[in-house]
Amino acid sequence: MNIEETINEVKEEFQEMFAEAHDSESLEKLRIRFLGKNGRVKKLYGKMGSIPDESKPVLGKELNKLKQQITRQLEVRQEKIEEEKKKQQLEEERIDVTLPGTRIKTGSQHPLSLVTEELEDIFISMGFKIAEGPEVEDEYYNFKALNIPEDHPARDLQDTLYLDDLYLLRTHTSPVQVRTMEKTKPPIKIIAPGRVYRADELDASHSPVFHQLEGLVVDDKITFGDLKGTISIMVEQIFGEEHSVRFRPSYFPFTEPSAEVDVSCIVCEGKGCSLCSRTGWLEIMGSGMVHPKVLSMSDIDPRSYSGFAFGMGIDRIALLKYGIDDIRLLQENDRRFLQQFK
Ligand code: DAH
Repeated sequence: MNIEETINEVKEEFQEMFAEAHDSESLEKLRIRFLGKNGRVKKLYGKMGSIPDESKPVLGKELNKLKQQITRQLEVRQEKIEEEKKKQQLEEERIDVTLPGTRIKTGSQHPLSLVTEELEDIFISMGFKIAEGPEVEDEYYNFKALNIPEDHPARDLQDTLYLDDLYLLRTHTSPVQVRTMEKTKPPIKIIAPGRVYRADELDASHSPVFHQLEGLVVDDKITFGDLKGTISIMVEQIFGEEHSVRFRPSYFPFTEPSAEVDVSCIVCEGKGCSLCSRTGWLEIMGSGMVHPKVLSMSDIDPRSYSGFAFGMGIDRIALLKYGIDDIRLLQENDRRFLQQFK
C-alpha cells in the first residue's frame, strides 16, 4: 500500500472513531492513538524517509494537514464538552432567589441568667463586688465556720449531699462569706451568686439543684439599718417601687439578730391570695447581722467590725418576678417556655 493510501486510511479511521467519541476520555484515547508518540500520524511521518524526493512536498503537506485537522477536531469537541459540563453545573447549582429563606433560629437568655444579671447589676451599682467559691465544699466552710452546730438538722444526710466524710456539695452560698473574710480584710462588700445542692426530691417548688445569691458587708459601724436600706433598694428595683418589704425576726446560726425578708405579694398586693397563703407576704430571703463568732473564726475582730449578710434563692426570685408556678420549668429547657423571655 502506498503512503497516500495509508494517509487516507488513517483519515477515515479517525473520522469513524471520532464520530463515536463524545466524552473527554474517548477524545484523549483518540489523541494518543493518532497523535501520540507511537501514534498513527507519527508513524506516517516516519515513513516519509522512504518515499521519492519529488513526492515529499505534496505528501508532507498532506500529512501536516491531517495532523492539524485531527488536532483541531479534537480541540473543538473537547471545548464543547467542557462548555456543556459547565452549563449543566450552572443549571444544577441554580438558586431561586425568589424562594422564601429559611429562618435562622436565635436563642434567648435563660430567665435565671436574666434575673442573676439583673441582681448583679443592682448590687454592683451599690458598690458590691462579685465573689465566687467552689461548689464542692468541705464541712468547715459549709457548716462549722458558719457556726452551724454538729447536731443541726442541715448537717443531716437527709438534707446534704455528702461526697465523703469531709467533702460535700455546698448547700448554700454562705461558705463564700467565710472564704472572702479569710482572704480580705474589711471593708468587705460582696455578693456571691451560684449553684447550690440539697438532698431534695424534684417537685414544683423544690429542686436538688438551685441557685442562691449571697451578700456580705463588713466594715466598722455597719448596722441593721444598712441591711434594711440595701435590701429595700434591691426589692424596689427587681419587683417595682409599689412593693413593700418587711423584716421578720428569725433564726440562723450565722447571724444575730436574724431576719427573714418578705415582699408584699406580687399577685394580690397584700390582700391575700393562694400564692401568699392568704398572708399578703412572700418570703424572699434570710438575713441578719453577722454573728460575732463567725467574724472571729475568720480572724475579723468583732469588737472593731460588724457586718450584715443575706441569702436569697435566685430561682425563687425568677419564679415570682415572671409569675412562673413550677421550678421545673427553669430546668427543662423547653424552647416554647424559654422563647417567652426574648
Ligand atoms: N444560707 C441560708 C440558707 O441557705 C440563707 C441565709 C440566711 C444566708 C441568712 C445569709 C443569712 O447570709 O444572713 O437558707
